[in-house]
Amino acid sequence: MRYACLVSALLAALAGSAAANSHTVGNPDFGPYLGHATSDAVSVSWRTSVAGTSEVAFGPTQALGQSKTDSALAQQHEVRLTGLQPGTRYYYTIRSLDGNGQVVASAGPFAFRTAAAPGQAFKFVFLAEVHEEVEVARFDAPIAAFGADFQIQPGDNIDEGHDLNQWQRFFTQGAWYPSLPLFNTMGNHNFDDGNVFGGADVVSIELLAAPGNERWYAFRYGHTLFLGLDSNHWLYPKSKTDQLTWLDAELTKATDGVDDPALIVAFFHVPPYSSCGELTCISREVTERPWVRQELVPRFEKHKVDLVLNGHDKIYERSEKGGVTYIEVSSGAAPRSLGWPNGFSKLARSARSALLVAVDGCKLDFEAVDDQGGSIEKGQIVGKCQNIVDGGAGAADGGADAQPDGLAADIATADAADRLDAEAGDMRVSDDAAQSDARAADGARADGGAAATTESGCGCSQAVRTAPNDVWPLLLVAVLALFGAWRRRRRCDRRRGRQA
Ligand SMILES: [Fe+2]
Repeated sequence: MRYACLVSALLAALAGSAAANSHTVGNPDFGPYLGHATSDAVSVSWRTSVAGTSEVAFGPTQALGQSKTDSALAQQHEVRLTGLQPGTRYYYTIRSLDGNGQVVASAGPFAFRTAAAPGQAFKFVFLAEVHEEVEVARFDAPIAAFGADFQIQPGDNIDEGHDLNQWQRFFTQGAWYPSLPLFNTMGNHNFDDGNVFGGADVVSIELLAAPGNERWYAFRYGHTLFLGLDSNHWLYPKSKTDQLTWLDAELTKATDGVDDPALIVAFFHVPPYSSCGELTCISREVTERPWVRQELVPRFEKHKVDLVLNGHDKIYERSEKGGVTYIEVSSGAAPRSLGWPNGFSKLARSARSALLVAVDGCKLDFEAVDDQGGSIEKGQIVGKCQNIVDGGAGAADGGADAQPDGLAADIATADAADRLDAEAGDMRVSDDAAQSDARAADGARADGGAAATTESGCGCSQAVRTAPNDVWPLLLVAVLALFGAWRRRRRCDRRRGRQA
């Protein structure tokens, strides 16, 4: 009865708490890490507990040879390297000197690769729900062996966005941060306390370099268009409208017949469909998922978006709807249990996971791996192959791609021999995958058959349905929940009227 009133009071208190916590917590050192990679530039960032200069030495060989310096003293450092060559490995070191010329930070060498040009193959890793948990480091070995060029995360990198000590743990518990440019979008925990309506994700924006307005943006690698979105349901109405206007323009441009991408990949925090059976996830059926389903999903289906990547619910799941493949991973936080009837689910696991993705032209091969060294599933998505233009540069391992032998902390990309040969179908069904299927805790049925590549949705090595198609129970629960909320709101309003 009093719930609605209590919730309102609680939200007001949280909002006040957020205003009081607008400052950052902690003063640690961390980094370096990379962001906003393009085919000719990248941003190098790090933080020092003492103010100092920002110096980066870099070059296409370990001899480096070039440098860029900002002599202004600061604790948060961001140096943008420009004039680079596409799909090329570069090496770099960082250094900061205080006002007396004493070294307060020095690290490297590290290595990274610039964004692939059209015609070049590339790889990336998708991680989510890191929450600065130490368990994410279990993915160090598979990520290093895979040889990714960059990483995507849909937010919730930390528990509380304003706490720099949590950001220090985030950047420390994963060996790939100095080498893989991070493309991040805002999760609910990127805000001050994870649940503040209308809150500002200031610290996340300050720390992480990103394209566009840094909350929603587009970028291209090879022939693939990536769209980073903000799905936080407390976005101001104008922000929602602005984002959808921008998204419509990007999708229209991507499908107008002029330099169209072969593949479109979108990523954001809240999955539209989920088999997570815990109450916190089920409540999202009436809070967070409706906007995603009503506003984003129809646009994805209309413009034939190929793949959508999400986090938030702390499970692994692949869903298919309207020709769009949805994959959710959770890489750090403790996995949640399954049980909710997601009528579009093809495979769901209560497990930590990461997604390894290799793109060559119009073909996208993926493998979901768990934190125990197992393969969850593999699959392939084929985009619009008629749009492929030969960039003449061959694979991303161009001649400038030397091995980073002797690097102190280089988990950077593997050599050409280690690269996945998409033509040979390396990411198709394997015995290991079939064995992994047999271990599935959800009792799902694994077909074990060969992957069937399709041009709409995923040609996956497993065709497993973990939830019934019948969504009527879900609709009934949603209607009852909405009716109950309406009644509580009405009674609350009446009480307020009497008190007034
Ligand atoms: Fe979340």
